[in-house]
Amino acid sequence: MSEILNDHNLIQMVNIEKSYKMGGSTFKAIENVNLKIDKGEYVAIVGPSGAGKSTLMNIIGCLDNATSGEYSLDGQNTKCNDNKLAEIRNKKIGFIFQNYNLIAKLSILDNVVLPLLYLGYTGKAAKEKAKTQLEKVGLGKHIKHKPTELSGGQMQRVAIARALVTDPQIILADEPTGALDSKTGREVLKMLEDLNSEGNTIVMITHDRDIANNAKRIITVRDGHITSDELNNKEVTA
Ligand SMILES: Nc1ncnc2c1ncn2[C@@H]1O[C@H](COP(=O)(O)OP(=O)(O)OP(=O)(O)O)[C@@H](O)[C@H]1O
Ligand SMILES: [Mg+2]
Repeated sequence: MSEILNDHNLIQMVNIEKSYKMGGSTFKAIENVNLKIDKGEYVAIVGPSGAGKSTLMNIIGCLDNATSGEYSLDGQNTKCNDNKLAEIRNKKIGFIFQNYNLIAKLSILDNVVLPLLYLGYTGKAAKEKAKTQLEKVGLGKHIKHKPTELSGGQMQRVAIARALVTDPQIILADEPTGALDSKTGREVLKMLEDLNSEGNTIVMITHDRDIANNAKRIITVRDGHITSDELNNKEVTA
């Protein structure tokens, strides 16, 4: 399958399957997934609960290996051991989660510094870069605060700063507005839209069709299969 490594897509999946052994039988959470995503795209993955969205995101995000099939990310085959997978993940992916996943006992500056330390930055350089990134999301005055001293929207902005600070190839967002009120949710969606306009590649998982409508391409997953993959013509239909 060398052809998949010669292409210029950022994400290329060929015949990806993820199965779980349950007692004596095997359950296929996703199967027959073929997917290409280019640099600069803004893609939403939608589907009902249990469809396989998080399973797919875990593989895209190099949190987990597929059971079979080929996945290359930025030209690199991801079939590798956990340490190597973690290295690819740290270098290439920025995560935004529904519940922010910030470390409560650390200041928001140190939360954003952390991924840079994993990449080998010195403390001083990491602090400078993290501070600049927090200023970009409008939190320059809050860097000494603990996450619990912030609102939900502010916490999600810290998470966005943390995701961006490593200059990742992809931003992966799993239900990024799920814990926010609708106004704050819209602000976070606007931020994602702006990041995409600046050239960032975004893959967002959501069960909500309206939220998916912010993306330029919508992929639907049902019962572990991609059942549709279409460009979002919201500008035309709005
Ligand atoms: N570790 C696991 N072991 C066994 N089955 C699993 C495991 N993880 C997920 N599954 C099953 O795989 C299927 C897909 O799960 P997944 O979490 O990907 O769904 P989802 O689309 O993200 O759903 P939701 O919208 O509820 O988050 C489900 O039937 C789930 O029970
Ligand atoms: Mg899920």
